[in-house]
Amino acid sequence: MSKPIALIFGSGPNVGYATVRTFLSNGYRVVQTSRSVKKLQDGAFTDDDDHKALECDVNDTASISRTFETVRAAWGQPSVIVYNAARLVKADPTDPFSSLSTSDFEATLRANVVGLFQAIKEAVVGFKALPEAERKAFFFTGNNLNELKPLPGFSTLGAGKSAAAYLVADADNAYQNKGYRFYYVDERFADGRAVVNEIDGQAHADYFYGLVKGTLTSPWWSTFVKGEGYVKFPWNR
Ligand SMILES: NC(=O)c1ccc[n+]([C@@H]2O[C@H](COP(=O)([O-])OP(=O)(O)OC[C@H]3O[C@@H](n4cnc5c(N)ncnc54)[C@H](OP(=O)(O)O)[C@@H]3O)[C@@H](O)[C@H]2O)c1
Repeated sequence: MSKPIALIFGSGPNVGYATVRTFLSNGYRVVQTSRSVKKLQDGAFTDDDDHKALECDVNDTASISRTFETVRAAWGQPSVIVYNAARLVKADPTDPFSSLSTSDFEATLRANVVGLFQAIKEAVVGFKALPEAERKAFFFTGNNLNELKPLPGFSTLGAGKSAAAYLVADADNAYQNKGYRFYYVDERFADGRAVVNEIDGQAHADYFYGLVKGTLTSPWWSTFVKGEGYVKFPWNR
């Protein structure tokens, strides 16, 4: 049987690279993508290497679909997808609706929501084509902004994460009975506070892999604590 495939959107030095290393060392073929990743030449996508890097901008839904097509043509359908890219344009906390331009708001929604919608659509195409026995999972890296407690200045990211949480919940609700799982992954400290700048890339990668393997379990709203796994806080649904 050929190796399973993991595809990461927005793969940078923290969550992204840790996820690449973790899945590679557990027998996966891994494709990492971001805007600045080194672009491969035509024909360089061969079968003799389990790790590829592709340029992809999640602001552009065509770029997301092209990435899936490239992976399918070279290796096959990915069974693990990680959507880790995010975009924030900060607003004036005292006057967000004057300071933010509509075009900035639209641009952040493209990366945080529309790109996610497209990636879920493409993931579902792939999941349907994969053997039933293969474990299938889609991870979106969220934060606590979907709780609808506004953080001053974060209108763009908050609206994006909130809409993203809905899409992830919607997908998990619709496809869980087919074995396709969708998780809004949100790392917290043990007391429930958001980790913010102390986000731990390796803890995310270990958590993703544990959920794929089935050694860990979680509902779609996947608040987790490093070393503990899923934790249901009082405000979680
Ligand atoms: N739970 C929490 O409290 C918490 C805290 C912090 C962050 N987060 C979430 O964690 C995620 C980021 O984690 P990280 O910084 O550790 O990840 P990372 O893997 O270190 O970097 C993410 C990468 O995403 C890429 N990216 C940004 N915009 C993109 C676009 N339009 N298209 C494609 N790629 C794009 C960037 O690379 P290029 O510039 O090359 O495109 C960046 O290096 C975000 O979703 C963020 O909201 C959660």
